[in-house]
Parts: sequence; C-alpha cells; structure tokens
Amino acid sequence: MRVLITGGNGYVAGSLLTQAPTDWDVHALSTRTAPNALPASVQWHRMNPLEPEALQRTLQQITPQSIIHTAAMAGIDACEQEREQACQVNVEYTRYLASYAASARARLVYLSTDNVFNGTLRPEDPPYSENALPRPVNYYGETKRAAEEIVAALDTSWVVARVALVMGLPRLGSGNAFLSWMLPKWEQGKAVGAPSNEIRTPIDVVTLGRALLELATHDYVGYLHLAGNDRLNRFELIRRMAAVLGYPESLVYENDPTQLPNRAERPRDVSLDNTLSRSLLHTHFPDLNDAIHLAAGR
Ligand SMILES: NC(=O)c1ccc[n+]([C@@H]2O[C@H](COP(=O)([O-])OP(=O)(O)OC[C@H]3O[C@@H](n4cnc5c(N)ncnc54)[C@H](OP(=O)(O)O)[C@@H]3O)[C@@H](O)[C@H]2O)c1
Repeated sequence: MRVLITGGNGYVAGSLLTQAPTDWDVHALSTRTAPNALPASVQWHRMNPLEPEALQRTLQQITPQSIIHTAAMAGIDACEQEREQACQVNVEYTRYLASYAASARARLVYLSTDNVFNGTLRPEDPPYSENALPRPVNYYGETKRAAEEIVAALDTSWVVARVALVMGLPRLGSGNAFLSWMLPKWEQGKAVGAPSNEIRTPIDVVTLGRALLELATHDYVGYLHLAGNDRLNRFELIRRMAAVLGYPESLVYENDPTQLPNRAERPRDVSLDNTLSRSLLHTHFPDLNDAIHLAAGR
C-alpha cells in the first residue's frame, strides 16, 4: 500500500505516521522539516501544498493509492479571523487532492469534524448519526462542510471521516493537542478551566490513528463518525482526565470562554454516534478511562 498523509507535522498525522504498518510505503507531505523521531521508513516531502504546480508534481512523483488528508487550518478562532487563508487551506487544498484522486483513481480519506453540526440537539435526542443534516455555526465548520461536499462528489473511492474532539499528545511533530499544555500545569499544581456547556464524544488520538489507517485500505465509501463511546461536557472530561492520570480533580475548574474576546461560536452538543464505525471497523473503540490512558501514553 502506497499512502500519502498530508499535514505531516500535525497532531493526528503524528499518530498515523507512528502507527502505519511497516510494510506500507508511507509518504508524508508537510510545509515543515521532518520531526526528529520520524520513523525511518517514512518518506518526507517538504513543500507548499497551496502552490498547485508544486503539489501536482509531488503527487505525480508519489502516485499514492490512498491519501489520508489531515492537513487543515484547525483552529476555530483562527479560521474566523483569517477567512481567506482558512478557505485556501481547508477548501481549495482539498479540492485539489480530490481532483487528483479522481484522475488517478486513488482513495481519499478526508478528515472532517463534529463542528459541521450546529449542536442544538435536544437533550432527549440521540447523538448525530452520519445521516444528520450539517449546519455549521462557525467558519471553520463551514469550510470543513464545503470540503466534505467536494469529497462526497467524487466518483472514486472516498470517506469523509467526521472526527470528534481528539484527546492526546502529539506523537511526533507538534499540533493542536490540549493535553500538551494541561499536563505541565497539573505537574506544577496549577488549575485549568474548561466549559460545561460544550458536550462532546471525545476520541483518543491513538484509536483515531488506527481507525484512519484501517480506512485507508477499506472499501467503505461514505460518511463515517469517528468518536468515542462516552458523551460528556468538556469540564467533566478534563476533570475525568485529571483523575484518571492521578491529579486532584480540584485542579480543574468550570469556566465560561464565551466571554473571551474574538472567540468564534462553538456548537453546544455535537456528540457523534459511532455505531457505524464500531460495526464496520476492526479497530477497537475503548471506553473513556482506557482512552484517556491511551491518549496520555501512560
Ligand atoms: N484535533 C482535534 O480535536 C480535531 C477534531 C476534529 C477534527 N479535526 C480535524 O483533524 C485534522 C487534523 O487535525 P490536527 O488536530 O492534527 O491539526 P493540527 O495539529 O493543527 O495539524 C494540521 C496540519 O495541517 C497543515 N497545515 C496547516 N496550515 C497549513 C497551511 N497554511 N498550508 C499547508 N498546510 C497547513 C500543517 O501541516 P504541516 O505542519 O506538516 O505543514 C498542520 O500541522 C484536521 O482536518 C482537523 O480539522 C481535529
């Protein structure tokens, strides 16, 4: 299997690159230099993927059979403030990969988000299934939804993997991992805040990596929700993480980030139903405490 992983230095990409089967021909595409701990078997391509000619040349050189497209401007507030850049990275880059996948008959696994939903589930409703109607409330969600539609129009093999909140530490490179700044605070006995009005179905980065790698060679075509089994608000989640990892729960307090300046709107409850993923994939979806151990690597 010859697979291309975009956004090589990102948080989720690190999980993919460190867990990819060693008999695969793995290529990573990145704007930055390779991380020191990159497995020797991975071939690294440093370039600006927003330059279509350079991207085209690199794709023709690699000729991937499967592309796992993790690259994105993933900061919700940054997307709101830098809309043009967010559109270039999240929509146009995906459009280009989709067009390549169509012409080369390659499989495209696109990472979308729970933020395509508006989160106004009534408490008695179940979590969102793959058939639920997307209606984003922030620009990040809008760009991810636009990219979903591009991928779903392909007549080749594709998956739109909608990912819930990801728990973990970057296993390579850097990236968008909240545990990275929380753990040092807890080590110093400092408390961290989290909101109770954002309900999520968090998944750990290790399980997510396994599921995405499985999807790279799977024949399933369509939308798929990659989420954990447990549904809880972010305050409860962070408190549980502290407890499971051996820190006092008092190091987590409830806050209200809606008061912060320049904060984009967040959907209230974007719990995703993972029933289809669990039935389709061999990947095991652990319950929350085990997922927290996997996320923290201990
Ligand atoms: N983390 C979460 O909780 C979460 C939840 C739901 C969905 N997702 C989705 O999962 C995917 C991976 O997220 P992540 O947390 O791994 O994000 P991340 O750590 O921020 O990594 C994203 C990577 O995208 C690439 N990228 C960003 N801006 C770029 C630009 N201007 N030009 C070219 N490449 C650019 C970068 O790769 P290089 O540094 O290698 O160039 C960056 O490291 C994203 O599609 C995100 O929308 C994440």
